[in-house]
Amino acid sequence: MRLTFSTTPFHEIEADWLIVGAWENEVWQGALADLDRKLDGTLTRLRERGDIRGKAKELTPLYEVRGLKTPRLLVVGLGKRDKIDFAGLVDAGSAAARSITGKGTKRLAIAVPDGAPQLTVETAARAVGVGLWHGCEGPGLRKSKPDRFAPAEICLITSANATTSGLERAIHEAETESRAVSLARELVNLPPCELFPESFAERAREIAERTGLDCQILDENQLEGERMGALLAVARGSERPARLVVLRHHGQGNTLSLVGKGVTFDSGGLSLKTNEQMADMKCDMAGAAAVLAAMQAIAELKLPANVIGVMALVENLPSGKAMKLGDVLRARNGKTIEVLNTDAEGRLVLADALAYAVDQKADHLVNLATLTGACVVALGTEVAGLMGNNEAWSEQVLSAAKAAGEKAWPLPMFPHYSELIKSDIADIKNTGGTRYGGAISAAKFLEEFVGNVPWVHLDIAGPAWAERENAVLDAGGTGCFVRTLVELTRNYS
Ligand code: BES
Ligand code: MN
Ligand code: ZN
Repeated sequence: MRLTFSTTPFHEIEADWLIVGAWENEVWQGALADLDRKLDGTLTRLRERGDIRGKAKELTPLYEVRGLKTPRLLVVGLGKRDKIDFAGLVDAGSAAARSITGKGTKRLAIAVPDGAPQLTVETAARAVGVGLWHGCEGPGLRKSKPDRFAPAEICLITSANATTSGLERAIHEAETESRAVSLARELVNLPPCELFPESFAERAREIAERTGLDCQILDENQLEGERMGALLAVARGSERPARLVVLRHHGQGNTLSLVGKGVTFDSGGLSLKTNEQMADMKCDMAGAAAVLAAMQAIAELKLPANVIGVMALVENLPSGKAMKLGDVLRARNGKTIEVLNTDAEGRLVLADALAYAVDQKADHLVNLATLTGACVVALGTEVAGLMGNNEAWSEQVLSAAKAAGEKAWPLPMFPHYSELIKSDIADIKNTGGTRYGGAISAAKFLEEFVGNVPWVHLDIAGPAWAERENAVLDAGGTGCFVRTLVELTRNYS
């Protein structure tokens, strides 16, 4: 699949499908009005009859339209013009692509909507490109008969008021970011018998070699040497050894460090989950997948910043060697942790990974983790919880998410929440001991390991995984927050 662009008039485009957007409560304007005239007013009649209303994600396929060189035309609703944002265009592209890629489509052409306030044509092209790309994807990796077919080419048709170099850049960015998101989705969807700490690390090594990132993989002995007692305690229950992957992208100025939770399967350990709770727990490495995917895109786009990606990879399983309730662990930074629930393993793994990132001289930290069910209770399945120790840095991450069209929302970090993780016998304990405020007590735990470095924690337990398909996305891994990390890095100095 590749993205291209063209300024050919719509009626002269040759493709399997031509996709055009319709604004709600507006008559056809500009190039679309020209198209309507070429079609003898067909589009206007459809609108007048109420068949095309332009409501967001409304889809109207038309076949064998006389006057077109494409055999099929798809009109996708964009909603109200003054409400449109980056996410709205991504969704419109995804919804359109999802509805037509069930059959063997080779070439899609889409009219990039222009005249969207707040968005340049280049930005709109990037949004539409990203959206179409994701709508063309299916998780049917392991199905013997695929039910979705990616087209070979997606052509973005743009008005003349964009520069060629600007569009080339937009397309390059859309393609690179889309491939990164696809990588994260693929990794999350891979079964845990195939994706485990060593195989994830191997995959990271290949990506690093291909893209020119420095790659360091710490095995269990090296992790011991690095005093990562908390991470190793989680890994101890499994036959599969832990790995810590460190990728480095060299640029200029300050160093941004991205840290991901990579629990390739979370059974809960001795605090075993129920079957229902465990069923989707291959998704518990979505944070690490997002970091790897973002590092790939950052390297390919040659972004100017210094970035370190740290991925903490373990399996959380019960066994005769597994950590027990009441165990006291010593983390890399010397703090002692009383284990009262082996299912609160993500914070143990991240404790050492964050302390390691701090020691690598990070100037700013962002960690991503499918950390708590409590965050999903608080914000629902589509919004990430954002917590941190520095307001300006939190704002910067929030605005990157906004620009990328991804949803994050701040949760408070008042000092009194730290009471929840006080232990009688160690420095801290790994659960709040109450369901209330569970997303925040987990964040307060992480805060113990970041020193004075400005840090943001994104709890992606909700948005990392889609239980059911919807109009814009397949079920399974979503690849969330990869584009936010790229956006953040693009503006980082
Ligand atoms: N990986 C889970 C969190 C999770 C829940 C991710 C649902 C995605 C969907 C995490 O390791 C966990 O088990 N957290 C516990 C913490 C508790 C024991 C303090 C939870 O949320 O129940
Ligand atoms: Mn767990
Ligand atoms: Zn977990």
